[in-house]
Order: sequence, then structure tokens, then C-alpha cells
Amino acid sequence: MAKVVRLEPIAQETSVETNGNLLSVLINQDLDVLRECGGRGMCATCHVYVKQGMDALTPINRREQRTLEVITTCETNSRLACQARVLGNGVVVELPPGMYINSLRDIEALIGRRADQDLLHPITGQVLVESGKLITRSTLKQIADTTSFKLGEYFSHSTDA
Ligand code: FES
Repeated sequence: MAKVVRLEPIAQETSVETNGNLLSVLINQDLDVLRECGGRGMCATCHVYVKQGMDALTPINRREQRTLEVITTCETNSRLACQARVLGNGVVVELPPGMYINSLRDIEALIGRRADQDLLHPITGQVLVESGKLITRSTLKQIADTTSFKLGEYFSHSTDA
């Protein structure tokens, strides 16, 4: 039987098959979820906060736990939407604000503009450029000097299920 999930802050309710994952809920709502790791529980791009109904979701698995540990915006109610499956009614989730980018090239394309929302790292969820900040070459250099975007390397080192 289908279960109802509510998405905040857009206040949309949608149903998902019992045992369906939260990611399918987000995609059904046409939310643009990057899914950098392809739904394998290894990135930050499907990170959500569960505002209500944590016990109506499957428990956190080991891989999800390890990934959540590196997400800088992780809270006690954080889950990865691709790993959390819906078992009961009453789940309310909220997406962290901001937009994930998956390479420095994405930022480079925005040089000379102000970020219209926080730009986030796809693995750690770290804010790379704050909303409203002007993106310059030096912003890009600063990010390049301090941030690794070797996602393939990261994924190949995380092999356990
Ligand atoms: S899509 Fe990467 S963890 Fe869910």
C-alpha cells in the first residue's frame, strides 16, 4: 500500500509504494536531485532532513552512516534519500538549501555573477560559495586550493555495502 510523504518547505504531499525510497519521492516531485553517486549512498546530493516520522523509515545502514559522517551539514535527523525506504505514513522531509555542483567547471561558468543560492560540494555538502556572493577568479582559485573534486577516487575507495 502506498504511503504519504510530505516535502517541506514546498508543502507538497506525495505517495510512494511501501518500501520505496525517499529519492523516488523527490524525483516524482520534479526536484532536481543531482544523484552524483548514482543512488549508492556515497554522496551528499540526496541528503535530506527528516522533520517527522524517522521511525517510519528503514534504519540507517553502514554505508549511509559513513557518508553522513562526512557531510558538514549533517544533523541527527539527516538521511540519504536514496537509502531511506518508507515503511509507514507520516514522514515529513526537508531538503537542505543550496545547489550541489559537481566540478570546478560548474563554478567557473558562473564567474562574474552572484550566487543565487549556496553552492554546495557534492560529497561533503560544504558551502563553497554563499548565496549572494560574487563569484570571481580568486573565489575559484581558493576553492581549487582547498577542495578536492576527485569524486571517482572517492567512490572507488568506498567499496563496502
Ligand atoms: S544519490 Fe548519492 S547518496 Fe543518494
